[in-house]
Amino acid sequence: MQDSKEQIAQLSPVLVGLMGSGKSSIGRRLAKHLNVPLIDLDEYIVEKDGRSIPDIFEQEGEAFFRQLETEALREVLGKTAVIATGGGAVMSEENRQLLKDHPPVIWLKASPNFLAKRIDGDSNRPLIAGGDTLQKIKDLADIRYPLYEECADYTLPRGDMKKPEALNSIIVFLTRWKA
Ligand code: S3P
Repeated sequence: MQDSKEQIAQLSPVLVGLMGSGKSSIGRRLAKHLNVPLIDLDEYIVEKDGRSIPDIFEQEGEAFFRQLETEALREVLGKTAVIATGGGAVMSEENRQLLKDHPPVIWLKASPNFLAKRIDGDSNRPLIAGGDTLQKIKDLADIRYPLYEECADYTLPRGDMKKPEALNSIIVFLTRWKA
């Protein structure tokens, strides 16, 4: 068991999915289990740029944020770590290719209803600020589900799955992937 844990720790798994799907929180648990660091791409960008995500969006616009995101992705992919991406990391073709070049990519798939309940009113997420959170998430899901699917080596259906169960499913997948 210890051996397989050490082996899967070398895989540099990448988590993708919409806002609120649990990439950071499940990523943290996975990283702890594997005894490797968690690299949260949003936090990495904030640390590097020195501004919060809402400030970057407001002052520079989304396109600029996406450039930072691509740069950050290039820098972190392949490191011995669990990598939690931001929900929009699959939007550019360049990023999708980067993700496909660095498997395994795990999609935390959750319904808009599940997500909207978790993130409603979160001021740190500019793309859902103001208006109807559920509708905004539905619109993002329409565009992004096929993109996550395109990049993912494994899809974890979140649904009612609790975090320990989700973690376990990912570990089972990674163990098989390694074999
Ligand atoms: C975004 C998701 C956010 C963050 C930024 C844009 C998106 O990350 O990168 O607000 O486009 O879905 P989380 O998915 O971690 O909230």
